[in-house]
Amino acid sequence: MTESPIGVFDSGIGGLSVLQSLQAALPAEHFVYWADSGHAPYGEKSDLFVRQRSLTIADHLIKQHHIKALVVACNTATAAAIHELRVQHPHLILIGVEPALKPALQLSQTGHIGVIGTRGTLISDKFHRLLASLQDQAHFTVQPCNGLALAIEQSTHQATAAQATQRITELLQDYTRAMGEFGPAPGQMDTLVLGCTHYVFAEHALRELLGPQIHLVSTGEPVARQTRRLLEAATMLRNGPGPHTLSARIRLMTNGDLTSLQAAAQRWLGLPHAACHRADNHV
Ligand code: DGL
Repeated sequence: MTESPIGVFDSGIGGLSVLQSLQAALPAEHFVYWADSGHAPYGEKSDLFVRQRSLTIADHLIKQHHIKALVVACNTATAAAIHELRVQHPHLILIGVEPALKPALQLSQTGHIGVIGTRGTLISDKFHRLLASLQDQAHFTVQPCNGLALAIEQSTHQATAAQATQRITELLQDYTRAMGEFGPAPGQMDTLVLGCTHYVFAEHALRELLGPQIHLVSTGEPVARQTRRLLEAATMLRNGPGPHTLSARIRLMTNGDLTSLQAAAQRWLGLPHAACHRADNHV
């Protein structure tokens, strides 16, 4: 089992932001990444739909790729499906992601924290429980960003890239304006939690809008650390020399547009096109 890959999935390319941290923290491991782009975005679909997709993908990765652990690199899928995944796969090492509210508390000086995410994540019981547990420690302004994950997906597709990039800026402008004032002064939001793994790829546009002083908090690194801890505890960490190249370690699959995944993998992970494959359409 130690030699088996770690499975990672997301509704699309967003989870590549988590994979970036995973491959850096676990240099000897192999990864198999599933981009469910044929069904993206998850954030505006029903819980039931997202749960069924998550269970189907987990089954496929277990049966076809013999994964030793599964990272649900999607906040929306974690909120909708992590419980059921744990029930159905009690022996699998499972790691989910959630908006990084706790790390944000450590960073904020003003005690006013913004949170952006998909509608599915932000209306979920799981998120409401997390928010309620911290509400006495800071003021949180929560903003669902319909359309943003889709625009980020489309920004990797050659035919739609220019329009989608423009759309990302417009959506971010509208949503951040609706949240209130950002800045380091008392009462202002000095910290913004990126509660969707896709949004990490809009960080540059967010920086331009909000300026250099605002903390932008994502989940890749804590998730990678947690994955390492759980593998270590189960003595399933792969030791010894790692494969020499990234493309020998990482296999990516999509049931959406292959060239979009190739562009995203190259841009964000420096992976060659050959690391990306068309996924089985029956999954
Ligand atoms: N990347 C996902 C998340 O972290 C989902 C985005 C979507 O498909 O709507 O929530």
